Amino acid sequence: MDKLVIRGGEALLGTVRVSGAKNAALPCMAAALLTDEPVILENIPQVRDIETTRRLLAAMGAEVELGYGRAQHRTTIHCKTLAAPEASYELVKTMRASTLVLGPLVARCGHARVSLPGGCAIGARPIDMHIKGLESLGAKITQNHGYVEATTNRLKGAEVFFDKITVTGTEDLLMAATLADGETVLHNCAREPEVTDLADLLNKMGAKISGAGTSTIRVAGVAKLHGARHRIIPDRVEAGTFIIAGAMTGGDLNIAGCNPAHLGALLDKLAAVGVKTKQSGDTVRVMGDVPLHACDMTTEEYPGFPTDMQAQFMALATQAEGVSVITENIFENRFMHAQELVRMGANIKIDGPHATVRGKTPLSAAAVLASDLRASASLVLAALVADGETIIDRVYHIDRGYENIEEKLRGVGAQIRRIGEMFPRKTAAPATNA
Ligand code: EPZ
Repeated sequence: MDKLVIRGGEALLGTVRVSGAKNAALPCMAAALLTDEPVILENIPQVRDIETTRRLLAAMGAEVELGYGRAQHRTTIHCKTLAAPEASYELVKTMRASTLVLGPLVARCGHARVSLPGGCAIGARPIDMHIKGLESLGAKITQNHGYVEATTNRLKGAEVFFDKITVTGTEDLLMAATLADGETVLHNCAREPEVTDLADLLNKMGAKISGAGTSTIRVAGVAKLHGARHRIIPDRVEAGTFIIAGAMTGGDLNIAGCNPAHLGALLDKLAAVGVKTKQSGDTVRVMGDVPLHACDMTTEEYPGFPTDMQAQFMALATQAEGVSVITENIFENRFMHAQELVRMGANIKIDGPHATVRGKTPLSAAAVLASDLRASASLVLAALVADGETIIDRVYHIDRGYENIEEKLRGVGAQIRRIGEMFPRKTAAPATNA
């Protein structure tokens, strides 16, 4: 298994470029299932979850061409025919976002068989609201042997109410509703930029969607969708991770190719901590070695503070003077990184959904274990300021959502290297889910 070795103490200087958003690319790739014409996606991040999605779609009969060389961030997906509208357990267990194919498959093929994702490191994460929503559109759904089977002659437009805001639930139903007979109104939707990006692609494919980015989305179903070309939005979580890296190392770092408008809650919170940033165009600059003050934070749905930045914020809070109380509202088990940070000398107490971080505490290098994607990012951040050489194990987690993280960080002065085999492209990823 690959490990990352990081010697702390370097201030990060220069410019780091953000890749396309994993959490926009995945639903956009699934959307290609809705048409028998080619869909061309640009600014696709080169991360493991994209590779897993390529294999998922190819297993159904789709032609998926991942670009190479200068075109490495472009993919062309052509779902001319879908012989096997199925997502196997083997693939779903490695990436729960595979369930995003359920809605498009039943809408396009009239039937779909998708493995239930099972448990996850950060929480139970059921897909009951995906299922309830599709049933509202008239799909007949059965569950057996760990699989969901959905059938319909044609989905029918309807009112769908999400009991809780769900990002992929909104995306799944949005895709299904595009080919339904009649109008669908989705209520209590997720407003994440990734949802809006998917709706932009679907409208380019001929869908009739309005209200994406708000809590109520209207979809006038159409008989058929066509091909399209679409550029994926920048990854706001990767951008946020680098902004915190700049702040923690006291560097002078430009995070380029991002969309500052998607980072509102994060930049607001960082300002309260004392982090100095400046925005210009698609770049956020983090400036200088400034004193960091403790600050409470609660994760919320967009436009609130993103749960995918909670672990990284906790690493920052270990370097802030005072007591920060972090409250995780979205997932019930998303503090796995806390004990690893404590191993590095942090002072963190967990009490249910609350983590109390006392800072500033000097961190010392240690061997630590990544438990999920964003937890591994927080360990990288802590290692960048720790005294000595930290070894982070199980970095296959970070490869799922960060493109070439060690090269990007080395490019701005970090002492970081990977030991073990550079992530093999064709082998199955270990079961991780989160
Ligand atoms: C998406 O996951 C993201 N993944 C997650 O990012 C992100 O943490 C999450 O949204 C919240 O922002 C992708 O976009 C691929 P949810 P998703 O459905 O859609 C409960 C990362 O690090 N729920 O919005 O699976 C659920 O258990 C990943 O990149 C139900 O109860 O999250 C959770 O408590 C991790 N029933 C809450 O809702 C359902 O049917 C929000 O989950 C669906 C969700």
